[in-house]
Parts: sequence; C-alpha cells; structure tokens
Amino acid sequence: MSFALTRNLSLPEFLTFLVWNGELYYPRDNSSYQATYFKPVRLEEIQNAWRRTLGLIREGRAPSDVGLYIHWPFCPSHCDFCACSMAVPKNKTEVERVYSSIIEEINSFSDVFSGTSLSSLWMGGGTPTFMTDQQLDFLLSHVRRSFVFSQNAQIYIEASPATLTDSKLEILIKYGVNRITLGIQSLSDEVTSAVNRQGQNRKKVIELFQKLKSIPGLIVDIDMMLGIERQSFAGFLRDMNEVLLLRPHLLHIYSFDERPQVPWLRRREKALGDLKKEYEEVLKLADRLSSLRGYRQQRDDNVRPVLYPWEERQDGGLRKFRSSVLGIGPSAISHAYGSAWYTHPPVSHGDESKISPFFWMESSIEEEMRGYAIWYLSQTRRLSRIAFLNLFQVDVMETAFASVFHRWEKERKVAIGKDFISLQNIDDLVEREVFLKDLYSEEIKTALISRWSKEIHAFGRDSNSAALWRQEVLRKNSVPGFRVYHDARFWGKS
Ligand SMILES: C[S@@+](CC[C@H](N)C(=O)[O-])C[C@H]1O[C@@H](n2cnc3c(N)ncnc32)[C@H](O)[C@@H]1O
Ligand code: SF4
Repeated sequence: MSFALTRNLSLPEFLTFLVWNGELYYPRDNSSYQATYFKPVRLEEIQNAWRRTLGLIREGRAPSDVGLYIHWPFCPSHCDFCACSMAVPKNKTEVERVYSSIIEEINSFSDVFSGTSLSSLWMGGGTPTFMTDQQLDFLLSHVRRSFVFSQNAQIYIEASPATLTDSKLEILIKYGVNRITLGIQSLSDEVTSAVNRQGQNRKKVIELFQKLKSIPGLIVDIDMMLGIERQSFAGFLRDMNEVLLLRPHLLHIYSFDERPQVPWLRRREKALGDLKKEYEEVLKLADRLSSLRGYRQQRDDNVRPVLYPWEERQDGGLRKFRSSVLGIGPSAISHAYGSAWYTHPPVSHGDESKISPFFWMESSIEEEMRGYAIWYLSQTRRLSRIAFLNLFQVDVMETAFASVFHRWEKERKVAIGKDFISLQNIDDLVEREVFLKDLYSEEIKTALISRWSKEIHAFGRDSNSAALWRQEVLRKNSVPGFRVYHDARFWGKS
C-alpha cells in the first residue's frame, strides 16, 4: 500500500510540500541558501567548521575523501533549456570582480587545508572554459599552489565546444587536467541554433572530440540533453547512436528539467509530467542502444564502499553523502562532513569583489546518518546496512532514528533484513520523498513549522490542496532524469 496522498495533507506532508518548493532538506541545489534552516554565517565560522571536519577525518570519524569544487558562473550565451547557475556577463568589470572574489576565497581556505591531500578538483559552471586564457592559467596555477592533491587525483573540468580553444586545452593539460566533460547537448545544428547555443556546430563538436580523445591519459565525457526544443525523440536517439560510435569514456544523458529559471519555459506548452510515458520509453531504448554499443549504465547499488571513477561526480549525491567538498565561487555547494552544509547565492550582478556571502546548516555525525539514509532510500529504495556500518561504524538499527524503522516495519512500509532496509511498494520518487519526512530531525521540522505556520493553517482548511499539490508536483518532478553510461571496453564490466 502506498502512502496516502489523495486525502488532505497532514502536517508532515505539508512540510514535504515545502521541501519540494525550495525548502530542500540538504542542499540539493544552490537555492538552498533561501531555505528556512540555512542561516547567514561569517567566513570565520566556516573556517572553523572545516577545522572540525579535518579533525574528524584525522580521528577516522569522517571519510578521508575531500574534493575541491570551483564554480565559474559565466557563459557566452544563455541556452534556452539551461537550469544551471549561470549568467551572461554584463561587462568585463563584472567578470573581473567575480574572478577576484574566487581568488580571495581560495586564499581564505588554503591555510586551513595545509597538510590535507585533496582527492579531486572539479571546475564547473556555467562554463569554466569561457574564462580568458590568462584567467584560466592563473586560476589553475593558483589552485595548484594553494592546495595539495593526491597523486591520482581527478582533475576535472566542464567545457563547451564553443569555448574550448587549442590554447585553453594546452593550459588544461599543463596543469594536469585528466578529465573533461564536453557539453554538446545535441549533434543537430537545427537544435543547437534553436536553443541559442551559440558558437557550436556538429563539425566542430566531432573534430574537437576526436582531438580530445587522442590525448593520452585524458578521460573524455559527453553531456547530452533529452527533451529540448526542436529535438524529436527519434532525433535524440540518432544523435546518441552517433555519439556512442565516437566512444566517449562516459556519456551523461540529462532529461530536461523545467526549473523556473529556464528561458524556454515561457514558450513551452506541455509540462514534463505530461510526457512521462514517452521519456520512460525513450530512456528504455537509450539503455538498449548503449548496451548494443558496449556501454553499461551506472548503478549505485549502495553496497560497494569504493566507487568507480565514473561515479565520482561531485554534484552527485554519491560524493555529497560520502565525502567532503570545499566549494568556491557563487552558488557553489560545500559539505564539511559532520560540521556543516553551506552554499553561496548565485552571481548577483552586484558588488562581487568580496567573497560571496555564506549560508549554512550546521551538521553533525547524526545529521550525516539521516541524510545518507534519506538519500539512499529515496534514490534506490533500499539502504545497505553493511555500507552504512562501514561508513558510520554503527548499525543503522542502533541509531537515534531506528525507532522510525521499527514503526514502519509494523506498518509494513519497510522490510528490515540482515543486509538491507527496503521500502515496500513506493514506486514514485515524489511519494518516497514525502514518506521519508519521518527521518527528518525534529529541529528541522520545528524550524519549518514556525516559519510556515500561517500557510500550514490555511492549507489545512483547503480540502483540494492535497490533490492539487500532488498533481502539480508529479507533473513537474516525476520525469526520469540523469543517466550515466560508461564504455565497458574501457572501464571494465563491473
Ligand atoms: C552545469 S552545466 C555546464 C555545461 C557547459 N556549460 C556546457 O553547456 O557545455 C552541465 C549540464 O547540465 C545539463 N543541463 C543544463 N540545463 C539543464 C536542464 N534544464 N535540465 C537538465 N539538464 C540540464 C546540460 O547537459 C549541461 O551540459
Ligand atoms: S548549458 Fe552550459 S553553456 Fe548553456 S547556458 Fe547552461 S551552463 Fe551555459
């Protein structure tokens, strides 16, 4: 029996409604800085949070994996489907201001991290390869001077075909970049010009890809989009087939996600939820096509303590919940394991010469445990007790929230096995998110109730609210999303 959503929403259900409307429990995107339980905080407190985390790592109480993320928000044009935290710069001064704020932020953390070996650098955006040659060169040399990276660290950058010139590529290689994700979105010139993706065409993409692929030791990934303007589902599959024949090390397929900041929304007629069935069909075909071409789909089975290289995306839940990430730059999300989650607002066209303000939610080992359990139960429907034990050195059934699992077991909502805790019959992701509200900490629930008490009261009186909410949320959020396919010939079959 699935969780009843067709009746009036109960209070906790309403809380989940808030979560879906920007009150994201754990920063799943940078809008979290507006959440009720994210508070403005000074740099010194953030530095202290990191000192605590590094202490936990030394004591073996937090995962030793610490990555660095740098967000470069600027792009040459705004692609019509884009939901990323980006801006087209108004002028050179604005860019220079953001650039110097990033350098200053790096300077504020280099001492805190002295003696810590970082496992990865990821530069994302926006479009980091949209920096000038000088900016890119200095930033990378500055990062290399300011932090120590482990010998096999993944040095990773997002690039677009319109901006990755030969001279930039040389700079990237000079500083040891060993993984590039080339965002192509589509191979069709009709589609890329319809979506305002300026400076890209099919010929350029293929030539650039082949050049990258010929560089020894460089991992080359491709990003494609499913469901953007002018792209037919057949056209998507044709493009995907062609891309697979080029043999990227990884292929990321993003299903179009309609967030409020997407320019195309103003012209779009259908909501995503209306196309759910079609998306499911196309993704099934995409899975078959990829396996025909010798690719495998990434699956996080929540069992293996060590992740494969293709799973190491810093923006993925995998990294977030199993490691720490120092995020630098507007809208970067950081996770100081066991101490804090924090983020910056997006680039604001204001005075960016100073470090962008910090907004945080303090964390603790118990919060980490809750976050981890919520993440895996919502994403994979089951929680590995062994993986949990490996990470936290405690059985999940001995934690402060184990009573919730016992209650759910009585209600036949979970099965508690020796190896896994599995959710029963809750197939829809949104319904799982609603259901998992019980694992939120009391503090978070209390903060939300006091912030939204007026709305909750009004909501309780409106008998249609629950049904309307369900319809709206399912329409918007229930389309199958991200896929990663890896080249089985290159990475092995595991
Ligand atoms: C942070 S963006 C940066 C990519 C880079 N600027 C480029 O365009 O090549 C990473 C990826 O997010 C995906 N993306 C952008 N907007 C999206 C949306 N509305 N829904 C789903 N995925 C989206 C695109 O595939 C893009 O390559
Ligand atoms: S898809 Fe990439 S290039 Fe296009 S607007 Fe978004 S971040 Fe910028």
